Amino acid sequence: MFQEDLLNIVKPANKKIIEIGCGKGENAFSLSAMSKEYIGIDISKDVIDLANANIPVNLKDKLKFKIGDASCLDFDSNYFDTAVLIHSFHEMPLQIQYPVIQEVRRVLKNEGTIIVIDPVEPPVLFQECFNFINREFKFFNHSLSVIHSNWIIEECLRKNLLKLDRKATIKVDYSFNNFNELIQFLIDDYYGELTFTDEMINILKNGISEILNIKDINEDIKLCDENFVWILKNNK
Ligand SMILES: C[S@@+](CC[C@H](N)C(=O)[O-])C[C@H]1O[C@@H](n2cnc3c(N)ncnc32)[C@H](O)[C@@H]1O
Repeated sequence: MFQEDLLNIVKPANKKIIEIGCGKGENAFSLSAMSKEYIGIDISKDVIDLANANIPVNLKDKLKFKIGDASCLDFDSNYFDTAVLIHSFHEMPLQIQYPVIQEVRRVLKNEGTIIVIDPVEPPVLFQECFNFINREFKFFNHSLSVIHSNWIIEECLRKNLLKLDRKATIKVDYSFNNFNELIQFLIDDYYGELTFTDEMINILKNGISEILNIKDINEDIKLCDENFVWILKNNK
């Protein structure tokens, strides 16, 4: 079931794909069959040795496994169509999650796709949303109350807000169940000197739906077999 979902989400046909934190390669064996080229990297030599030992003969031309660290990828820029992270992102320490996404973006083509499948909501996406808000609403200058139940997200927001040099009060008693709640949170919880006009709300919705590559604003964040699936379009 999971492999079938994975094929539907990743849509590997004729794509050059990098899988980051590929483990022993089980997902790569099914995803690479239709791909143009598939490279799995993992920081652990043990799992890469196992993956390499088990490559089916018919995939040997296009499937390769290499030892590598997600925060420092040994590949040319603008090379891959798709980057997939399956159950690996949450294992990376918080301080490298944002650099990892930046590094993944570097090796991806413009308009390439980043797919993160994880049992944990990746906090980096909230950072993306806040970066977007910062870009669009530069005149923002007020204190912000951010509420979330996930300490990782709290930590991420705290760092991000410090970077933005804003005063922040962070309370912890909220969690998002779907995309609409996230949008509503971003609108409701910004208060102070700024009132969101309809135009600003539209910019916010369009921008964030683009970051998350969610076409229909009413669509919930997709859940697949108890995983969060986040799909980002690379925008260089
Ligand atoms: C839970 S396993 C998932 C493996 C595989 N994707 C799967 O779904 O079966 C997470 C993998 O991420 C790898 N990993 C963790 N941090 C990494 C990093 N910074 N760079 C590359 N791989 C990493 C680990 O070595 C591990 O093999």
